[in-house]
Amino acid sequence: MKLKACIKSIGAYLPKNIVYNQDFETFLDTSDEWITRRTGIKQRFKADKDEQTSDLAYKAALVAIKRAKINIDDIDMIIVATLSPDYFAMPSTATLVAHKLGLKVSAFDISAACSGFIYMLELAKSLVESASKKNVLIIGAEKISSVLDYNDRSTCVLFGDGAAACVISAGYENEILDVQTATDGEYAKLLFTNRPKYSKDCTPISLKMQGNDVFKVAVNTLANEVKHILSKNNLSKDDITHFIPHQANLRIINYVKEKLELKDEQCCVCVDKYGNTSAASIPIAINELYESKKLKKGDLMLFDAFGGGFTWGSALAYFDGE
Ligand code: ACO
Repeated sequence: MKLKACIKSIGAYLPKNIVYNQDFETFLDTSDEWITRRTGIKQRFKADKDEQTSDLAYKAALVAIKRAKINIDDIDMIIVATLSPDYFAMPSTATLVAHKLGLKVSAFDISAACSGFIYMLELAKSLVESASKKNVLIIGAEKISSVLDYNDRSTCVLFGDGAAACVISAGYENEILDVQTATDGEYAKLLFTNRPKYSKDCTPISLKMQGNDVFKVAVNTLANEVKHILSKNNLSKDDITHFIPHQANLRIINYVKEKLELKDEQCCVCVDKYGNTSAASIPIAINELYESKKLKKGDLMLFDAFGGGFTWGSALAYFDGE
């Protein structure tokens, strides 16, 4: 029987501080009304000063490993997707997470912005199916507050910190059915992190986005993307138990949901609670379903994501956790 890669578990960690929309009204020309109407976001979590992306990732990893009912040293690879690593360039956040877990296994980061979770799924699927690895720990983790300009109302209100992890292991049923990923670097300048090239001091990196232009490309790309992965796998919208989109903006989620004619109960929405947590957003949403006991073993999940690059992707996977 052919070896299959399965999502064995999900676990998340959110920092304790909550920032409400009203908190921005005290120092920015913005309002709870604008943020809610244009994005659907009501609050987001924010890490402490001394709490780094690897700390969030480590805590999410512990939950996922426990729920997978394996030992920490059964993990033979760690991948972290992040745009807000502890260190830029090196060492990777995955290396730091491996160390916190007491492991010396292969560990590396990938850079695919908000699509990072889909990219990790694709990698883990092929490594597990080829029997190169047995248990791959994939973690979407962001301390995105560390790359935000809190004077820029068009970006800082949108994002939140958090981490979520999955253990991907070999099995024979409830597999990750299919993953599609793509990029278009023509749009690099619409969404990027900026550090002036010639600055002598260590000018903080900050995220820049032309939100409205990103929005237009995102809605059309995602609608086509999800239709394609369903038809490629001979599935219809009714086969999907949970549509779990990247949580960037409620209006983007609703656009794709309407294009696919999905029912409300099929669609996972938690952008109101977490904001856009970039690479962590899809696994945090999976965890939300899991902890509210709506996600059951054998449920078919459809994921879609879109982010800086541009990068985007979609995936179909059965849940194989208990
Ligand atoms: N409060 C009040 N007004 C605001 C705020 C704010 N926080 N932010 C912007 N505005 C103003 C603008 O200045 C503009 O004012 P003007 O008309 O006087 O110039 C007006 O609101 C409209 O601005 P738009 O940018 O056109 O607003 P839009 O409706 O497009 O909403 C948003 C902006 C929420 C960013 C939306 O475009 C969006 O969600 N884009 C996609 C984001 C996304 O999916 N990114 C990809 C993933 S992120 C990643 O990869 C890291």
